[in-house]
Order: sequence, then C-alpha cells, then structure tokens
Amino acid sequence: MKTEQHAVIRLSEYAAPSYAVAGVALSFDLAPTGTTVRADLKIERSAGQTGPLTLDGEALDLKSITIDGQPLGDNAYTVTETGLTLADAPSKFTLTTEVLIDPVENTRLEGLYQSNGIFCTQCEAEGFRRITYFPDRPDVLSTYRVTVRGSKDVCPILLSNGNLVEQRDLGDGRHEAVWEDPFPKPSYLFALVAGKLDSYEDTFTTMSGRKVDLKIWVEPGNAPYCAYAMDALKRSMKWDEDRFGLEYDLDIFNIVAVSDFNMGAMENKSLNVFNAKYILADPETATDADYANIEAIVGHEYFHNWTGNRVTCRDWFQLSLKEGLTVFRDQEFSADMRSRAVKRIQDVRMLRARQFPEDAGPLAHPVRPESYMEINNFYTATVYEKGAEVIRMQHALLGEDGFQKGMKLYFERHDGQAVTCDDFVAAMADANGRDMTGFKPWYSQAGTPKVTASWRHDATSKTLTLTLTQATEPTPGQKQKQALPIPMRMGLVGSDGKPCNLILDGQDLGAETVLMLDEDSLTCVFEGVDNAAVPSLNRGFSAPIVLKAPYSAAESILLMGHDPDPFARWEAGQQYATALLLGMVADLREKREPVLDEGFIAAFGRILTDSSLDPAFRSLAITLPSEDYLAEQMRPVAVDEIHEARQRLRKAIGETLSRDLSRLHAELADDGRFDPGADAAGRRALRNTALIYLGAAETPEAVTLAKTRYDIADNMTDRMAALAVLTECAGPEREAALADFHDRFKDDEQVMDKWFAIQAMSGLPDTLDRVKALLDHPRFSMKKPNKVRALIGSFAMGNPIRFHAADGSGYDFVIDKLIELDRLNPQVAARLLGTFGQWRRLPADRARLMKTALERLAETEGLSRDSTEIATKSLA
Ligand code: ARG
Ligand code: ZN
Repeated sequence: MKTEQHAVIRLSEYAAPSYAVAGVALSFDLAPTGTTVRADLKIERSAGQTGPLTLDGEALDLKSITIDGQPLGDNAYTVTETGLTLADAPSKFTLTTEVLIDPVENTRLEGLYQSNGIFCTQCEAEGFRRITYFPDRPDVLSTYRVTVRGSKDVCPILLSNGNLVEQRDLGDGRHEAVWEDPFPKPSYLFALVAGKLDSYEDTFTTMSGRKVDLKIWVEPGNAPYCAYAMDALKRSMKWDEDRFGLEYDLDIFNIVAVSDFNMGAMENKSLNVFNAKYILADPETATDADYANIEAIVGHEYFHNWTGNRVTCRDWFQLSLKEGLTVFRDQEFSADMRSRAVKRIQDVRMLRARQFPEDAGPLAHPVRPESYMEINNFYTATVYEKGAEVIRMQHALLGEDGFQKGMKLYFERHDGQAVTCDDFVAAMADANGRDMTGFKPWYSQAGTPKVTASWRHDATSKTLTLTLTQATEPTPGQKQKQALPIPMRMGLVGSDGKPCNLILDGQDLGAETVLMLDEDSLTCVFEGVDNAAVPSLNRGFSAPIVLKAPYSAAESILLMGHDPDPFARWEAGQQYATALLLGMVADLREKREPVLDEGFIAAFGRILTDSSLDPAFRSLAITLPSEDYLAEQMRPVAVDEIHEARQRLRKAIGETLSRDLSRLHAELADDGRFDPGADAAGRRALRNTALIYLGAAETPEAVTLAKTRYDIADNMTDRMAALAVLTECAGPEREAALADFHDRFKDDEQVMDKWFAIQAMSGLPDTLDRVKALLDHPRFSMKKPNKVRALIGSFAMGNPIRFHAADGSGYDFVIDKLIELDRLNPQVAARLLGTFGQWRRLPADRARLMKTALERLAETEGLSRDSTEIATKSLA
C-alpha cells in the first residue's frame, strides 16, 4: 500500500498542557473567500512546565504575530503545516495573531465554512485550529469574547456563544456584534454563525424562575417548519430539570439549522448548530421517524450543556464520557416522552445493526479507545451507543436514586473541569459507597461478549438448572479477553404462560431477578419449579451481549405470547425468525426448497391481531430481522440467499395473513388530522407495516393499493411507506409516483434526500444505473454531505443485494466516488468507507472484489489521514 504514514496518538502518552489560556478575544472580518481572524490570547505557563509553546493551526495564512504588542522577529517562531511554535515564550503574555482563511474553499466543513451562503463553524473535534492558532485540545478551557463584523446585506444576523454585549453599525455597509461567553470552555465548543436567517422564537422559564429566550435560526422561509423542534427543546429543558435537577445556565439559547453539515448536530455552548434535517418538519415533509429523531437530537444537544459542556473531556479518548452519557440521557428522554418498550427495542435494533458489526470487524475498539490516527473516525456507534449501554448498566446496578446521587457528586466534583471516564465511575462508586473497579473493563475491552445459556428441568427435584457461559472473540490489538460483569435480568415463564417465582438457595426472589455473570461461567439452581418453565433472559437487553440460547420453536412461541417483559417478547420473535431464516438460507444454498414454518407465521398473526398490544410494538414485533442482522449470524455471508429467504418469508406472511392485514389496514386509517405524537405514529407504523406485507405479495391489487395510498397520502410517513412499496415493483405506477414526488418536492432540500435515498435502496436490477444517472441531477452535489449520504450512502449501506452485486460493480462505483469525495470532505468519505471493512466475512469471490476496490482507494495519491486510517485497518 502506498498510503503515507500518519502519526498514531496514544492515551498512554497523555500529558497535561504546558500553558493555560486565561482569556480569548477573537475578531472576525467576514468575507466569503478571505476572512480575517484576529486572536488575542492571554497565555500563562503552567506551574513547573518548561519548553517551547506550540499552538495548533492548519490551513491558516499568518499575516501578523505579536507578543504583548511587540512584533516578533523571524527567528522567534516557526510555522509548519500543523502549527506554530514559539521557541522561548515568556511565562505570562498576550499573543496576538492575524490570519486569513477561506470559508468558500472549505469543502471539509471543519472550521469556518459556508452552507448555502451562510457562514457557520464546526469545531469538534479539531476544527478550531482551522480558524486560528490555538492549543486545540479539550483540556484547555477559556472564556471567549468574540467580535463578528460583516456586511449588513449578506450577514444581517451575527451570532456566537454566550450573551450579546454590544452591537453597532460600522457605517460602511458593515456592522458588528460582540458576544461574551462567561463559562470557560474548550475550543471545540466555539461557534460562529452569520448570514441571512429567519428566526422562530419562544421562551422558557427555568425552575428557579429565570426566563430564557429560545431562538431557532433557519434559511429564509423555513421558520414555519420549526414548531416541533421548539416544542422538543422546551420539553428537553423541562425534563432535564425534572429528572436530573439540571437547569439551563444562560438567558439565551440559540439553535441554527444549516443544510450542509458533516453529522447530525453540535452542542456549541448556547449556539447549537444542526443539520437542517434534524430541525425542520411539518406533516407533509417529515416522517414519524424524522419527528422522533428531531426530538431525540434536540434533546441530545441540549443535554450536552451539562454532560459535555459544564463538565467536558480531558482528551478525546474520553469522548464517551460525554457522548455515551448524553446518548443515555436522550434515550431516557425519548422513553419518558413516548413508549419506553418501543424505544428500547428501537435502540437495541440500532445497536445490533451498527455497533455489533463494528465490534466484530477490523475497526473494533473499546468504548474508551487507546489510540487513533484521526479522532473524527472515533465518533462511532461504539463510543456513542455502546457507551450509552455501559452507562445504562451502571444505572441498573445503582438504581435511579443511586445513579442520580452519582450524577450529583460528579457535578459537585467536576463542574468546570475536563475529566475522564474513570472520574465518572469514581463519582458513581463514591456516591453509593460501592467498589466499581470490576465494572471498568467495559470501557477498555473491545468486542461483544457472547453468552451461551443452557438449562435442564428435573421433574423429581423440581429444579431448573441454568448455566450461563461468556466468551469474547479477540479484536485487533486485543488478543486476550477477560470475563466482564454481565447483569442478566431474567425470569421464568411456566408452560402455562404464567411467570414462576424464582427461588435460589431457599430465597424467594419474586418473579424477576438480575443474575451477575462476572466469571467465565455461572450455574444457578432454581427450586420449586414444577413444570418445564422457560428462562426469559437478558430482559430489557440488560447487557449489550449476544445471547445464544437453545429455544425450541414451542418455547419461542410461548415467550412471544406470554413474556411479561415487552422487550423479551419482541426478542423471542426475532430469534425465532432468525433461526427460521437461517434455515431457509441453508436450504437455498443446498438447492432445496426452503421450508416455511406455519407455526411461526401463525404466531406473527396472533401478535398482529392482539389489540391489547400497543400498535407501535406490534409493528416492530412483526418486522423481520434485517438482511444485515442475518448476515452477522453467518460466515461467509450468503448475500443473495439471505435476500431471497427474507423475501420469500415476507411474501408468505403477506399471503397467509392477507385477510388480517387488509382488515387492519382499513381499520387503522386515521381521521385526517395529523398528530405527531407517539400513539398516532404507532398506528401509522402498524398500518404501513401491513401495507408493506401486502405489497410483498407483489400482486396487481397490492400495487394498486400502494399507488392509491401514495396518491391520497396527506403526510410524509404514509407517502414514503407507499413509495417504498412501489419502488420495489417495476412498472408504470412506480415511475409515476417517483415523478410525482420529484415534482412536488424538487425545491425542498431535505425532502429531495428521501427521493434520492429511496431509489438508491431499491432491490430492482437497474438500481446502480439509476444511481449513476442521479449523480447528474441538479440537486445532487458531492459537496453536500446529506446528498452524498442519501444517494451513495444509502446504496452502500442500505442495499445489500445491489451493493454486493456479484460482478463487483457496486464496490467499484462506491470506491470511485469515495476517492473523489476524499479530496473534498475526508471526514464523510472515511465514514462511508467503513463499510468496506466487511470484505473478510464475504464468500471468496466477493471478498476478493471488495478488497481489490479498497486497495485501489488505499493506493490513491494524497489520500486523507481519515481514509488512510480506515483503509489501513480494514486491510490489515
Ligand atoms: N458532539 C456532537 C454530538 O454528538 C457530534 C460531533 C461530531 N464530530 C465529529 N467530528 N464527527 O452531538
Ligand atoms: Zn453528542
């Protein structure tokens, strides 16, 4: 491979900063291709530190530099590609630099850039060094005073962190605003936004009676689409007070929605910047999933104000300190706002779809990684979602009260500091008088533990002996694995469907308990079990593990119908479906006619029609495991057979249950008034799941039904569900619907992403050609991350059958595009490249094709550090 060597940064080499920056004054003269940034930094050498002072800086054009107002001689400093070094700086001084930067050229979207003409910044993790010379690391906290100057025409609105303290007209068609943030913060939380923006405004009164001005800033014309995000923000503020006792700390809170953004959103102090797709919504343009995401992400960024901003990370290895904890908090927020059971199922589905493959592949890393080349590559499902599971287990261990005591102590000890994951666990332990050392390997060990369960009922002694065994496969750089403390919430369901009491060592534990599997293996003998009861294990997904349990079909059906834990009921159906589908895959590979299990379909039918169950739950419970999930269960992955088996089973379910499905589809029609709440969304979900099953039969009636639903849809959830059915069925209805959708929404940036994505995910044979043609659509641009993700990302991640085309055309196409994208936006390119790490699990011919494509990228001249890291690790 020709890739350059990039330095590896290691946790073990952490050293405290040698200088502190007591105060930062920045002033920006905004101009699209030549913005001047002046920085006055009050720098102080830390006690006991010697040596030169190095500031980070990239893509900066240094115009002037002074110390305490005195110009520096050429020998007093050196400037490199990555920073500026002062050979012998005084121990306390003011450093003033002036640099020129180019926001328009900035296609990386890190630092200061323009999105549809709006100036905005993204500094996490290391974007601030593209704005000015600075010790760009999270453990250097400073207060900021920011002056923003710009043309009144182009930039009527000028925003930064904190409070607006001055504003004046400069007389030459320009004006300025001065912002001051009283809270010391690391540079990654700095933000600036300027441009033509409309606002949607409201207020919130905090628990101590302070009135906070809330403003959501959007591109002109978009203010009417902010109502739901604003509502979510106010509910987030209230919820954080009620559940965590945490109050907002400034009198103003701004959110800006921009079209071009590398990720979801960013928690800059009092000036959150969002990808517009997570703010803008109305019934005609946003699906129920969009509404739920907006609520979750608005909450997430708001919750960072305490978990992330008031207490931040010492170094980027501690990223999960703020991200895992804040994901846990946003999950709890959504669970409290909606259905807790449904939220848990959705979160587990996401963890399995994204984190489990990561943890089992070449990019596996611990929740607290030990090394990286490019930190942007570590904003992963492991750091975020597994990190949240690690917090959730501590919550379960300590209970809500104990956990809240821990949080209280965490803030008492560390408010205003930059700390580590160990500090967090220490606060939890100390507040509860518990030793939590044994828990810490969850942060440092990569890989998903596999727990194997077995049990035996003995009729004479009326005992049920349950054995649990754990093992974790080696991951890159971690050959030896240790046993982790696995909290296994469980119960026993009697053959009559009733819960049994759990009696262990003569002690009656009631109907449910948490077993702690903290060694390789654990055996428990439950007493007084007089029928062949079935263990219901890992209820609520109490630990992020893979569970292997030898359930018979009858036992799965029993749990599907009777488990008192809704997660476990869903899980029983998923595991049954998985076993069935994998059996069908084996049949297809052996050229046998696959056996469709009628008992399974009947059990699905009972859930479908059980009106005592929440519709949202029913919709999830009758959705088959995804192709990717099935792929995770087998090596090598039989891509085509998995697709075929799943299609056949869906079709069989659609045909067998067609009467119930049609009846439900008719009954669940709403009354025309759109309500974005969870209950109404749940009914839409179930109704659309019914439509999808009816569509799986691919009969002319089903296509007509989907087309009718498309035509009369009065909200985006229904419209997209119908369109999804139609895009899988070649014919005039499909083309008519896609053309109609285009004409309706061609001027809506966010909605057009859906149009690109749905075509990219179609299983029809002409998909790759269509995707290639769509690259030339006027709305598509390689410079817009949302468009790239919608078209190329959806094809690579959401269309297994076409991406893995046997001739390698899918791989070649995506790699060509990623080579192109890497030059424009390495962060987004590297993110999509991760999917090529799966080549090893494919059958030999595809593995070779995928690996060859990946090698071609790896050999590209000038490949970014971001893509180099992913490519190198994937090929290792
Ligand atoms: N802190 C942001 C959030 O989770 C995400 C920042 C992502 N940054 C990155 N370089 N990928 O809310
Ligand atoms: Zn976050």
